Amino acid sequence: MKRIKILAIVGSLRKDSYNRQLALAAKKILDNRVDFSILEYQDVPLMNEDIEFPAPEAVRRVREEVKSADGIWFFTPEYNHFFSGVLKNLIDWLSRPISDEEQNVLWGKPAAISGASLGMSGTGLAQDHLVTLISFLNMDVMNVPRVVIPNVMEQLDSDGRLALKESYPFLEEQANAFVDFIEKRIMCREKVASGN
Ligand code: FNR
Repeated sequence: MKRIKILAIVGSLRKDSYNRQLALAAKKILDNRVDFSILEYQDVPLMNEDIEFPAPEAVRRVREEVKSADGIWFFTPEYNHFFSGVLKNLIDWLSRPISDEEQNVLWGKPAAISGASLGMSGTGLAQDHLVTLISFLNMDVMNVPRVVIPNVMEQLDSDGRLALKESYPFLEEQANAFVDFIEKRIMCREKVASGN
């Protein structure tokens, strides 16, 4: 089987985002097993149907990156018990069909979700809203296990970086489960394609 590609989408644009640090920790866990990259999308404009066709260059680029990934791992912050506006904007662009022949690039794509927040909910509420959205778009969501990190300030080292004390084993478990989840999907597709 070819090396699996996982694309992380972080719902925070903040330079020192804990969710970005969480994505980097997941990358470190999986680096020897898969190609793991983080999608950069700061340059994607606000959705406006007036500029939808032809798609802006940044939109074309992110669509290609999503299309070539075997799985998408969302790392979401929680803003007012919801996921962030920048993530919704990105998903709105990704949700649009590319042409009469092609579905949107998220269709059927395996997805995992994790998140860290300052508060008690640990992004659980944001994650549930995100599941509603990406299920509507027919992503193939791995609902269990999910990683929810409340009170993230309690898991920082002395430099204020995410040290992931208690949560590390859960992240490791989710990372391995997601690779298995993707591999099963690929094997099923190959079986169907070969007619066996
Ligand atoms: C927050 N934060 C927050 N935290 C939480 O646990 N529940 C919430 O509903 C909210 N709401 C919220 C709204 C807005 C507009 C902001 C900017 C922040 C705090 C949030 O968890 C904290 O800023 C995280 O550090 C954001 O994630 P990143 O940027 O570190 O990945």
